[in-house]
Amino acid sequence: MIKLIGNGHEHTLGAEPDTPLLYILRDQLGLNGPKFGCGLGQCGACTVLLNGEAVFSCLTPLLLAAGKEVTTVEGLGTEGSPGPMQRAFIEEQAAQCGYCIAGMMMRAQALLRKNSSPSDVDIRTAMEPNLCRCGTHMRIMRAIKRAAALMKTADAGTSGRASP
Ligand code: FES
Ligand code: FES
Repeated sequence: MIKLIGNGHEHTLGAEPDTPLLYILRDQLGLNGPKFGCGLGQCGACTVLLNGEAVFSCLTPLLLAAGKEVTTVEGLGTEGSPGPMQRAFIEEQAAQCGYCIAGMMMRAQALLRKNSSPSDVDIRTAMEPNLCRCGTHMRIMRAIKRAAALMKTADAGTSGRASP
Protein backbone atom coordinates (compact mmCIF):
# COMPACT_ATOMS: atom_id res chain seq x y z
CA MET A 1 0.00 0.00 0.00
CA ILE A 2 1.24 3.45 -0.87
CA LYS A 3 -0.05 6.64 0.73
CA LEU A 4 -0.05 10.07 -0.74
CA ILE A 5 -1.78 13.36 -0.09
CA GLY A 6 -3.85 14.48 -3.07
CA ASN A 7 -5.01 18.10 -2.87
CA GLY A 8 -5.00 17.90 0.92
CA HIS A 9 -6.70 14.49 1.25
CA GLU A 10 -4.85 11.35 2.29
CA HIS A 11 -5.20 8.36 -0.03
CA THR A 12 -4.02 4.79 0.42
CA LEU A 13 -3.45 3.06 -2.89
CA GLY A 14 -2.94 -0.58 -3.72
CA ALA A 15 -1.54 -0.03 -7.20
CA GLU A 16 1.81 -1.26 -8.50
CA PRO A 17 4.62 1.08 -7.39
CA ASP A 18 5.67 1.75 -10.98
CA THR A 19 2.20 2.87 -12.08
CA PRO A 20 2.48 6.37 -13.55
CA LEU A 21 1.16 8.94 -11.09
CA LEU A 22 -0.95 10.39 -13.92
CA TYR A 23 -2.97 7.16 -14.14
CA ILE A 24 -3.53 7.12 -10.39
CA LEU A 25 -4.71 10.72 -10.35
CA ARG A 26 -7.11 10.30 -13.24
CA ASP A 27 -8.32 6.72 -12.85
CA GLN A 28 -8.32 6.21 -9.09
CA LEU A 29 -8.68 9.69 -7.59
CA GLY A 30 -10.93 11.16 -10.27
CA LEU A 31 -8.65 14.15 -10.79
CA ASN A 32 -8.96 14.76 -14.51
CA GLY A 33 -7.20 18.13 -14.60
CA PRO A 34 -3.84 16.59 -15.50
CA LYS A 35 -4.01 15.38 -19.10
CA PHE A 36 -2.30 12.60 -21.02
CA GLY A 37 -0.56 14.20 -23.98
CA CYS A 38 2.62 12.44 -25.03
CA GLY A 39 3.35 10.14 -22.09
CA LEU A 40 7.03 10.89 -22.70
CA GLY A 41 7.81 14.04 -20.73
CA GLN A 42 7.68 16.15 -23.87
CA CYS A 43 4.45 18.19 -23.68
CA GLY A 44 3.74 19.07 -20.04
CA ALA A 45 -0.01 18.45 -20.22
CA CYS A 46 0.29 16.11 -17.24
CA THR A 47 2.20 18.54 -15.00
CA VAL A 48 1.34 18.47 -11.29
CA LEU A 49 3.10 19.63 -8.13
CA LEU A 50 4.92 17.09 -5.99
CA ASN A 51 5.75 18.71 -2.68
CA GLY A 52 5.52 22.02 -4.51
CA GLU A 53 7.81 21.10 -7.43
CA ALA A 54 6.44 20.76 -10.95
CA VAL A 55 6.78 17.21 -12.29
CA PHE A 56 5.58 15.30 -15.34
CA SER A 57 3.08 12.92 -13.75
CA CYS A 58 3.25 10.65 -16.82
CA LEU A 59 6.89 9.90 -15.98
CA THR A 60 6.56 9.88 -12.18
CA PRO A 61 6.06 6.39 -10.73
CA LEU A 62 3.60 6.18 -7.88
CA LEU A 63 6.40 5.10 -5.55
CA LEU A 64 8.09 8.48 -5.96
CA ALA A 65 4.95 10.20 -4.70
CA ALA A 66 4.72 8.04 -1.57
CA GLY A 67 4.16 10.17 1.51
CA LYS A 68 4.23 13.33 -0.57
CA GLU A 69 1.77 16.09 -1.31
CA VAL A 70 0.42 16.02 -4.86
CA THR A 71 -1.39 19.11 -6.10
CA THR A 72 -3.39 19.18 -9.32
CA VAL A 73 -5.23 22.09 -10.88
CA GLU A 74 -8.30 21.05 -8.85
CA GLY A 75 -6.29 21.94 -5.73
CA LEU A 76 -5.84 25.55 -6.79
CA GLY A 77 -9.48 26.49 -6.26
CA THR A 78 -13.00 25.65 -7.31
CA GLU A 79 -15.37 26.80 -10.02
CA GLY A 80 -17.18 28.98 -7.49
CA SER A 81 -14.01 30.15 -5.79
CA PRO A 82 -11.10 30.04 -8.23
CA GLY A 83 -7.63 30.60 -6.83
CA PRO A 84 -5.46 33.45 -8.15
CA MET A 85 -3.79 31.36 -10.85
CA GLN A 86 -7.15 30.16 -12.14
CA ARG A 87 -8.67 33.64 -11.93
CA ALA A 88 -5.76 35.12 -13.84
CA PHE A 89 -6.09 32.58 -16.67
CA ILE A 90 -9.83 33.23 -16.86
CA GLU A 91 -9.44 37.01 -16.78
CA GLU A 92 -6.77 36.93 -19.51
CA GLN A 93 -8.79 34.36 -21.50
CA ALA A 94 -5.55 32.41 -21.76
CA ALA A 95 -7.05 29.04 -22.69
CA GLN A 96 -7.85 28.23 -26.27
CA CYS A 97 -8.14 24.46 -26.59
CA GLY A 98 -7.54 24.18 -22.86
CA TYR A 99 -5.84 20.79 -23.08
CA CYS A 100 -2.45 22.13 -22.05
CA ILE A 101 -3.71 24.74 -19.61
CA ALA A 102 -3.97 22.72 -16.39
CA GLY A 103 -0.34 21.71 -16.80
CA MET A 104 0.59 25.30 -17.63
CA MET A 105 -1.07 26.55 -14.47
CA MET A 106 0.74 24.01 -12.33
CA ARG A 107 4.16 24.87 -13.74
CA ALA A 108 3.40 28.57 -13.34
CA GLN A 109 2.30 27.92 -9.76
CA ALA A 110 5.63 26.24 -9.05
CA LEU A 111 7.43 29.23 -10.56
CA LEU A 112 5.56 31.78 -8.45
CA ARG A 113 6.23 29.80 -5.27
CA LYS A 114 9.93 30.43 -5.84
CA ASN A 115 9.84 33.76 -7.64
CA SER A 116 6.94 36.05 -6.82
CA SER A 117 7.99 38.71 -9.37
CA PRO A 118 9.22 36.84 -12.45
CA SER A 119 10.52 38.73 -15.48
CA ASP A 120 9.44 37.80 -19.01
CA VAL A 121 12.66 35.80 -19.35
CA ASP A 122 12.03 34.03 -16.03
CA ILE A 123 8.54 33.03 -17.21
CA ARG A 124 9.70 31.90 -20.65
CA THR A 125 12.50 29.84 -19.14
CA ALA A 126 10.34 28.23 -16.46
CA MET A 127 7.51 27.43 -18.87
CA GLU A 128 9.80 25.92 -21.52
CA PRO A 129 8.84 22.27 -20.75
CA ASN A 130 5.13 22.95 -21.34
CA LEU A 131 3.90 23.19 -24.90
CA CYS A 132 0.90 25.06 -26.26
CA ARG A 133 0.34 24.42 -29.91
CA CYS A 134 -2.53 26.80 -30.47
CA GLY A 135 -0.63 30.04 -30.05
CA THR A 136 -2.03 31.58 -26.89
CA HIS A 137 1.46 32.14 -25.49
CA MET A 138 1.19 35.90 -25.00
CA ARG A 139 -2.02 35.50 -23.04
CA ILE A 140 -0.40 32.83 -20.91
CA MET A 141 2.46 35.24 -20.17
CA ARG A 142 -0.01 37.93 -19.17
CA ALA A 143 -1.99 35.48 -17.05
CA ILE A 144 1.09 34.44 -15.10
CA LYS A 145 1.97 38.07 -14.40
CA ARG A 146 -1.60 38.75 -13.36
CA ALA A 147 -1.50 35.71 -11.05
CA ALA A 148 1.67 37.04 -9.45
CA ALA A 149 -0.09 40.35 -8.79
CA LEU A 150 -3.19 38.62 -7.42
CA MET A 151 -1.07 36.49 -5.09
CA LYS A 152 0.68 39.57 -3.74
CA THR A 153 -2.72 41.10 -3.02
CA ALA A 154 -3.73 37.88 -1.27
CA ASP A 155 -0.53 37.90 0.77
CA ALA A 156 -1.26 41.49 1.74
CA GLY A 157 -4.31 40.27 3.61
CA THR A 158 -7.23 40.03 1.22
CA SER A 159 -8.80 36.83 -0.11
CA GLY A 160 -7.18 34.32 -2.41
CA ARG A 161 -4.96 31.29 -2.41
CA ALA A 162 -1.28 31.94 -2.75
CA SER A 163 -0.27 28.33 -2.21
CA PRO A 164 0.47 25.57 -2.89
S1 FES B 1 1.82 13.62 -21.03
FE1 FES B 1 3.37 13.97 -19.60
S2 FES B 1 4.76 15.29 -20.57
FE2 FES B 1 3.28 14.82 -22.11
S1 FES C 1 -4.56 26.17 -25.05
FE1 FES C 1 -4.27 24.12 -25.60
S2 FES C 1 -2.58 23.99 -26.93
FE2 FES C 1 -2.82 26.05 -26.36
